[in-house]
Amino acid sequence: MKYTFEDNIGKKIISEAEIKAKITETGNRLTKKYSGKPLLILGILKGSLPFAADLIREIKIPVMYDFIRVKSYIGDKSGELSLIVDTTEDLSEFHIVIVEDVIDTGRTMQAVKTLINERNPLSLEIITLLDKPDCREVEFKADDALFTIGNEFVVGYGLDYNEFGRNLRDICTFIK
Ligand code: IMP
Ligand code: MG
Repeated sequence: MKYTFEDNIGKKIISEAEIKAKITETGNRLTKKYSGKPLLILGILKGSLPFAADLIREIKIPVMYDFIRVKSYIGDKSGELSLIVDTTEDLSEFHIVIVEDVIDTGRTMQAVKTLINERNPLSLEIITLLDKPDCREVEFKADDALFTIGNEFVVGYGLDYNEFGRNLRDICTFIK
């Protein structure tokens, strides 16, 4: 395993400041929309961790948060998804906002949406930090995408290449 990959990091496409501004905007929107309602932010591990951590602090109403971790078998195209870490909350008691790092083929989020809806949340909204609509293999549209990017692989702000790069503050292209 290589522990440095500076040479593989391409150009900065989204800066820390741009991310912060969009998250503040999103936090304000959620504050208004869910005021007076039981709200649970459900982050998808591991990629959404920095995004979820920053977003919850821009929400100015009482809010709970939890995480799930899923593993998708992208290779076999079955769209099969297994839950590695589940939430213990009763989702039927909450308005759920799923927070994801990136939607690429759409397979993961399509499966997660079905799984969460089966637990009868009061409502379900899906927010992704990044959207790559050109990469879709199944039809899927998030309720909110903070940034739309092209068909490029990126790292930073939670996104990884072989688990590295998640701690970068900006989002940068990555040359494999
Ligand atoms: P998909 O939408 O089911 O294809 O899968 C989305 C998942 O693929 C994300 O949760 C990421 O783990 C991973 N992924 C897709 N594109 C990127 C990228 O550009 N950088 C890092 N991870 C990515
Ligand atoms: Mg991921």
